Amino acid sequence: MTYAQIVGWGYAVPARTMTNFEIEKMVDTSDEWIRTRTGISERRIAGPKETTATLATRAAQNALQVADLSPSKVDLVIVATSTPDYPLPSVASIIQDSIGASRAGAFDINAACSGFIYALAVASGMIASGIYETILVIGADTLSRMIDWTDRSTCILFGDGAGALLLRKSDCPTGLRACVLGSDGSGVGSLYIPAGGSRAPLTVEHVQNRQHLIKMKGSEVYRFAIQAITQATQQAVQQAGLTVDDIDLFIPHQANIRIIQAAAKALKIPPEKVFSNVHRYGNTSTASIPIALCEAIEMGKVGVGANLALVGFGAGLAWGAAIVQWGVDATPVPVAWWKSVIRNIHSREAVVRSFALRTQRRLDALRRFNGVNGI
Ligand code: UT7
Repeated sequence: MTYAQIVGWGYAVPARTMTNFEIEKMVDTSDEWIRTRTGISERRIAGPKETTATLATRAAQNALQVADLSPSKVDLVIVATSTPDYPLPSVASIIQDSIGASRAGAFDINAACSGFIYALAVASGMIASGIYETILVIGADTLSRMIDWTDRSTCILFGDGAGALLLRKSDCPTGLRACVLGSDGSGVGSLYIPAGGSRAPLTVEHVQNRQHLIKMKGSEVYRFAIQAITQATQQAVQQAGLTVDDIDLFIPHQANIRIIQAAAKALKIPPEKVFSNVHRYGNTSTASIPIALCEAIEMGKVGVGANLALVGFGAGLAWGAAIVQWGVDATPVPVAWWKSVIRNIHSREAVVRSFALRTQRRLDALRRFNGVNGI
């Protein structure tokens, strides 16, 4: 039997921190309201030169470094995102190029805040079925670019970031043990961006009416979230042949501490087994679960054999729960100087390769133009 072992992990967040006190100056709210209703104190906001792809590239490079693997070994890059750099092409193609994964295929998945669980399920299935051996799974979003900074019910919630896992073929029974994916599309209007898609291509009027920005019925999503997390986790745990007591660490989507605590209470998971960093990052959408997992690893909370419950929910309405059995020793090892040099060479190689391919394309176009015009 073939399994998809998680052998690398990494995350990236923008350097710029925005506190609740800053938001107090933009809309009618208070630090106290935001903290007590959501648990959020601050979030990271992408700078002018940062995008979903730049954050995802850093997260991917960190995951490759942990795994000590060359990007040329990657077979496939999957990025879960709802804020791609362009409507077309995928962020995954940008990452494939930026990290120098010269052999890899690439595509995006959009399942909003649940996207990372969907991507993990697809990647694990592809490895288990023998199609691929090494897949980079990334969750990355810059929702700050889609937020209405005059809407106090949404602008307080979101932040930007990216998290990545590197999955490799293994004979050890490890990685994804069970997975539950679900959707209730009747809830589209609970959380969506009305304009900018094929239904309402963007016009000046849409922008003037702020229809290109996130609209959310917060209390509807709140009620859905608790039920979705609870049911999906119970189903996934059962599918894995475990009980909730067997879960060593519960890492739900980091949207609101009240949602996390209510779901943990309903599932009877004690607080010490619940991971949350929502106070520092807010809701980073599909990046929240991999970022939280990376931080849990950094804090020594993920040991070999640990059963992790990862649960996402959000726009769609969609949800996903994954039971993951951790398989590798995650104790950080100091990186040898020569490995840092090789890593540097790989990232420069990727830049040079990308430049050479673009130049080649321009030269080909020029040659064709000259041929057609008889020059
Ligand atoms: O990835 C999934 C994404 N979304 C979520 O997970 C969001 C889920 N929902 C939530 O987290 C919560 O519903 C919110 C944090 C968005 C709102 O908290 P709530 O306790 O559900 O508040 P509410 O929407 O019921 O509003 C209560 C009051 C309202 O005032 P009135 O009508 O009672 O006078 C709001 O206008 O709080 C008001 N309010 C605010 N007040 C101060 C809403 N936002 C704010 C704010 N500051 N930022």
